[in-house]
Amino acid sequence: MTDVMILAAGLGTRMKSRRAKVLHELAGLPLIAHVLRASFEIEPETVFTIVGHQAAEVEQAVRNRSAVLRERDPKAAPDLQFVTQTEQKGTGHAVMAARDLLKKHKGSLILVAGDVPLIKGETLKNLSGVHRTEKNDVTMLTVLMDDPTGYGRIVRDPEGRFDRCVEQKDASVDELAIREVGVSIYCFDVPALLEALDYLTTDNAQGEYYLTDVPRIMQQREKRVGLLCHPDSEEVSGINTRVELADLERKLRERKLRELMLSGVTIVDPSTTYIQQDVAIGPDSVIYPQVIIEGASRIGSGCTVQSWSRLRNVDIADDVTIRNSCVIEDSMIHKSATIGPFARLRAGAEIGEKAGIGNFVEVKKSKVGRGTKASHLTYLGDATLGDRVNIGAGTVTCNYDGVRKNETIIEDEVKIGSDTMLVAPVRVGKGSVSGAGSVITKDVPPDSLVAGVPATVKKKLR
Ligand code: UD1
Ligand code: CA
Repeated sequence: MTDVMILAAGLGTRMKSRRAKVLHELAGLPLIAHVLRASFEIEPETVFTIVGHQAAEVEQAVRNRSAVLRERDPKAAPDLQFVTQTEQKGTGHAVMAARDLLKKHKGSLILVAGDVPLIKGETLKNLSGVHRTEKNDVTMLTVLMDDPTGYGRIVRDPEGRFDRCVEQKDASVDELAIREVGVSIYCFDVPALLEALDYLTTDNAQGEYYLTDVPRIMQQREKRVGLLCHPDSEEVSGINTRVELADLERKLRERKLRELMLSGVTIVDPSTTYIQQDVAIGPDSVIYPQVIIEGASRIGSGCTVQSWSRLRNVDIADDVTIRNSCVIEDSMIHKSATIGPFARLRAGAEIGEKAGIGNFVEVKKSKVGRGTKASHLTYLGDATLGDRVNIGAGTVTCNYDGVRKNETIIEDEVKIGSDTMLVAPVRVGKGSVSGAGSVITKDVPPDSLVAGVPATVKKKLR
């Protein structure tokens, strides 16, 4: 059984931020959420997180993401344990903070820094596999970097075996030329780790307890140290600055777009399309340039999303068209509906099958029935519209009386004339028609023609 420990107590000085580094967002998720995803993939019994800077927020981020991961895969339900490192005196010191908790854990422990967001579960699995077959006490993941600046260099002896790990700030000129580096990902035998922690000192350029000293200490105490050189340096790159954050953002985005394209989605211009990790899109949907799709959005197949639209937490069925420049969030759109251009769907909008929401129409917390059209300059708030309703240009549901939000109900096959004001709470009965410029203040019975200010029934239509 392998447990996981995530180091996430540091501030991340090089981010030049008041926020803890692991809370900075990549592809819409805090860095630590990405590491958590990989950690859950190895199905650990316990995930330990070492927290310090903004401990409460980091813990919350871990809990929030765990809940999402658990929902996706109920098998992945590790126990979450949090350890506070009150003062940040180095990566070794962070592990020392968890000493007492670790004493209860016998097996092996995958340790990973909270700032390596592209890490794959597969790589952690492989590391723990090698650790087991080689019967090591520690197995360190290393990688060859074209530019190793900032990383701890791996010094090997003439036979190519591990000798020691040297931090950038402690390295000699010769050591600085070494391209093999540690990436703060290890697999430890827990008792051997606990023993080595007792021998850590702060005798180095930064006056910190370096976790990178642990393998050398183990080696001196006749323990087995293994190195596993990983072929993909991009995957294990840590984030230290906002420049690196932006670089990884681009890489993750490319990875996501590639996945979508390979699964049958047309992305017309990947270089200007932003689609976050949790978004799902069905085959034969077409995404035009300059589109942003965020959150837990789900888009069916055969859909079109035209340029300059921004979608967040949307649930869109098949064959829906989103025309240019729409802003849509927390909304549901049924099959074959058409939205936009320039439409705004706010939280709680539900648009029916084959319905049409057009130019400069705003919809909030409203249900729009099948085949219903609101094509121009309209506000629908706290409203329920039936099927095959037509809403004329400039219609407003006056939902707010200055104190509370009131409901408007428009039944099936109603035709609302241009510039009608519906002063809520109000109901318009099935098949009724309002004249242009009506101000409807009272319920309208079915099959009636109303007009005027305030609107009155002019005649029965059936
Ligand atoms: C560390 C390694 C370095 C390696 C690099 C790879 C050490 C001494 N150095 O350096 O060899 O090449 O990672 O990315 O380990 N943290 C704590 N408590 C602390 C200090 C750090 O929890 O007191 C956490 C941070 O939040 C972070 C992780 O440990 O998630 C790594 O810390 P960071 O300061 O980024 O280490 P590096 O200087 O990059
Ligand atoms: Ca780092």
